[in-house]
Amino acid sequence: MAFTIGKKGFNLEQVTFDHYDISLLARGDGSEIMIQSITKDNLFYMYPADNPNVMEFVYILQGEVICELDGEKVCLGPHDYFTSTNIKEPIHFTVLEDVVYLWVITEPTFYQLSDSITRLKEIVDKVEEKDRYTFKHSERVSEYAVKIAKKLMLSKEKLENLYIASLLHDIGKINTPEEILTKPGKLTDDEFAVIKLHPSDGAEMVKGLYYEGVAGIIEQHHERLNGSGYPHGLKGDEILLEARIIAVSDTFDAMTEDRAYRKAFNMQFAVDELTRLVNTHYDKEVVEAFVEVLKEEGRI
Ligand SMILES: [Fe+2]
Ligand SMILES: [Fe+2]
Repeated sequence: MAFTIGKKGFNLEQVTFDHYDISLLARGDGSEIMIQSITKDNLFYMYPADNPNVMEFVYILQGEVICELDGEKVCLGPHDYFTSTNIKEPIHFTVLEDVVYLWVITEPTFYQLSDSITRLKEIVDKVEEKDRYTFKHSERVSEYAVKIAKKLMLSKEKLENLYIASLLHDIGKINTPEEILTKPGKLTDDEFAVIKLHPSDGAEMVKGLYYEGVAGIIEQHHERLNGSGYPHGLKGDEILLEARIIAVSDTFDAMTEDRAYRKAFNMQFAVDELTRLVNTHYDKEVVEAFVEVLKEEGRI
């Protein structure tokens, strides 16, 4: 159960731009509820969404806007509202008087505006710059992870956490010295001990995010089913499903990209290797779902 009271001015995160600010008040099951203020004489738009099922709802609390629809101008004020689903063209609004409105959307949107997520992604970019072989690694891992999760029919809530966690999974490597990250030969025990810190460091770095589930997933992305992983040596179901999904996506990407010490393996080889380690290291259902995805895409 979750029951949350928000007193005036409280929010999960607020972002401020030149002419407007947006606060995220609540989120759940893929929907978000925000409050946006825009100062007078500015414009805003409702844009067509990629997903035709997404609904947006706007309820004006104060101020005044003009909406231009099919060449006609409609004036909207307090307690007027509109909904939008599957629009084909952007709809244009002009703010006549400083406006404040409640904005509900049935697809996660705020993360694209969030200062904290942007800052964390910039750190990930720095991590990937340290080792040229990991350029765009996190983006590919998130692509694989989301495809697997959709096959496994994860809830919208879990999908969202997984997406953010996979983008940020290696963020803790910002603390790992470049010489260790890019060392071509075998790592010493001491060096490996330093590598092993990155899941917990990463979890610590994302703790303040309004995505509460993300830290735990990041902390567990190197755990393996038989307890041979790190940092805690968790086993089987002790490991979050989202972390088991990232483990498979992460290993696959590591194998199919060049490394300082070897060339990339082909995708079939990587899949055979994952399959060989099913039940000892990797989750069987996750690997099977991934194999299906790769087959459907004609990659193997
Ligand atoms: Fe990692
Ligand atoms: Fe990784």
